Amino acid sequence: MLEVRAVTRMFGARAAVDGVSFTVDGPAFVGIIGRSGAGKSTLLRMMNRLTDATSGRILVNGRDVLALRGAEARAWQGRCAMIFQQFNLVPRMDVVSNVLHGTLNRRATLATLFSLWPRADILRALDILDRLGIAEQAAKRAEALSGGQQQRVAIARALMQDPEVILADEPIASLDPMNAQVVMDTLRRINVEDGRMVIANLHTLDTARRYCDRVIGMRDGRIVFDGTPDQLSTGAARDIYGADAGFNEAATSTAIPADTAADAAYAGRLLA
Ligand SMILES: Nc1ncnc2c1ncn2[C@@H]1O[C@H](COP(=O)(O)OP(=O)(O)OP(=O)(O)O)[C@@H](O)[C@H]1O
Ligand SMILES: [Mg+2]
Repeated sequence: MLEVRAVTRMFGARAAVDGVSFTVDGPAFVGIIGRSGAGKSTLLRMMNRLTDATSGRILVNGRDVLALRGAEARAWQGRCAMIFQQFNLVPRMDVVSNVLHGTLNRRATLATLFSLWPRADILRALDILDRLGIAEQAAKRAEALSGGQQQRVAIARALMQDPEVILADEPIASLDPMNAQVVMDTLRRINVEDGRMVIANLHTLDTARRYCDRVIGMRDGRIVFDGTPDQLSTGAARDIYGADAGFNEAATSTAIPADTAADAAYAGRLLA
């Protein structure tokens, strides 16, 4: 359970995030949408403690993660893995080693320096790569992979941490529609099959509608919409994006090809 309570982040005199509150109960797939500069990244970065909040609290199972210091703060960062638009892999390093870096926060510095990975960790990394459909890429350099494959490596690295929460900041913004679909499907699997909470900043409406249980719309640092995809009408979207009557949904579309059979199968699992 995640409770964000009146969280604010000032940059100078300007609030990037302005008194944001919401509660997520259980392993939901939450999408955060809004135009550029709305405060989406700042909000995620505060949850992960990459950015300090100016005020407010973020309670995870009742504990304020914003108040954690030192080793406790780092332990929390291990519990909420972050995925970025630009993958943030080590390009010249092989895929398995990139994934193994997900265990760094619980490894001794010397062992890491000499790349002495425990055998159990290597096997687990290979298992995760296999699960995400990229096991055959394991020995390649990360830079040799397609964008969609690289983002799946980043997700595999996140899974090595066995995180409670996955925070994804525009995970498909650099991908073509086919790769975007593979990556979003992967995040959905992790959400549905593992029961991990996923919170993703998404720059397109159609993706948020299709994959999220809940959509939070931000504008100028504040939440202006919080509801299900069904409730996200064109009017609500217009309000979030601050667009005029000429607002066209196609302008914020990733055009992921429809796969209604797969969507229905997942919906069935969720209901089962
Ligand atoms: N380190 C910083 N220093 C000063 N201002 C910042 C900093 N980081 C963010 N901001 C400002 O805070 C506001 C929110 O930025 P943020 O990156 O959270 O928006 P965003 O919704 O993620 O936008 P985008 O869709 O472009 O990624 C913007 O006005 C931005 O200029
Ligand atoms: Mg951003």
